[in-house]
Amino acid sequence: MTNQTETNSVHSTPIDPTTGAIVPPLVFTTTFEYEATGQPHGDDEYIYTRNRNPNRLALEKTIATLEHGVLAHAVPSGSSAMMTIFQALRPGDHIVSSDDMYFGIRVQLNEFFAPWGIETTFVDMSDLEAVKGAMRPETKLVIFESPTNPMIRLADIQAIADIAHEHDALVLVDNTVATPIAQNPLKLGADISVISLTKYIAGHHDVLGGVIIFKEQNEFADRVTRLVKIGGAVLSPMMCWLTLRGIQTLSYRVRAHSDNALKVASALADHPKIERVLYPHHPSHPQYDLACRQMRVGSGLMSIQVVGGREEAVGLVQRLKLFTSATSFGGTHSLIEQRESIEENSTTPPNLLRVSIGLENPDDLIADMEQALS
Ligand SMILES: Cc1ncc(COP(=O)(O)O)c(C=O)c1O
Repeated sequence: MTNQTETNSVHSTPIDPTTGAIVPPLVFTTTFEYEATGQPHGDDEYIYTRNRNPNRLALEKTIATLEHGVLAHAVPSGSSAMMTIFQALRPGDHIVSSDDMYFGIRVQLNEFFAPWGIETTFVDMSDLEAVKGAMRPETKLVIFESPTNPMIRLADIQAIADIAHEHDALVLVDNTVATPIAQNPLKLGADISVISLTKYIAGHHDVLGGVIIFKEQNEFADRVTRLVKIGGAVLSPMMCWLTLRGIQTLSYRVRAHSDNALKVASALADHPKIERVLYPHHPSHPQYDLACRQMRVGSGLMSIQVVGGREEAVGLVQRLKLFTSATSFGGTHSLIEQRESIEENSTTPPNLLRVSIGLENPDDLIADMEQALS
């Protein structure tokens, strides 16, 4: 329709042809009448909701457009999106993964897929020589987040894609933190983008979901498609509907999260009780230049390291009034957590607080931080 993200997001679903409804009807039916000869009614090929559902199809088409892909699958969580990808590999395949990532994905690889014969080498993705050194003839997939959760490190997507493609491996970028508003991995050389819809895309702390987007239709995409339909890990119509509603305001929300986060990061960067602020678009970030080159805007996710250790970090969380002590990120409310306490086998520094900057007035957030630090 247009190349403009805001317009595509608002017009993500067509006006309902039977009623004229602007908001799409929620289709809960699991089964659709079809011809006795086995043919579906009409062109939309609806037979059974696990295979295809109008709310899911609308969400998948919208996300594929936003992320510049050709095909998307909406699944029950960001974690199940990664599980589905790994299940599509075969014993003997090898993965190169970032060594900083949402810890649950590391657990999937080590606890479930290593015993199935899929080995993973973990490397620092900002070190391109390390990435090259980790590649093997049997490497099928290179996976990473940029920015990472929780250390907020960036990876040069194009440079890593070039290395991976020289070795015939596919590149998967977890675009959850950045969102398609800030960067489109598929336009930067990646083959697959995975996003936890739970965060910015749905955006209101009330949806658990995930999505897998492919740059092109290929053998691996076909295998994942079979896994989704036959395996049955699909997102429910209600969650799809809520996510599509969230997408209508996504561009504006991400820009507001980003503006607020930069203001909070700037206010904290020189505070005597803050050791370090990790936010890609703050000039103190070691990869600030890459952030400006690779991302159109920031996001609301940052980490801060307080002067002292675990006790000082926990004390700060306890004194805050507007920030809720809770996990997750990407929603309207500002959240904060001492990250080490929630991760399994954590290597995250004990004085690190992961902060999700919400959509409150940034002056109120800064004032709350200042009172809690004083
Ligand atoms: C970067 C990233 N990817 C994936 C996930 C997993 O998403 P979900 O909680 O929807 O399973 C998370 C969860 O925090 C995350 O931070």
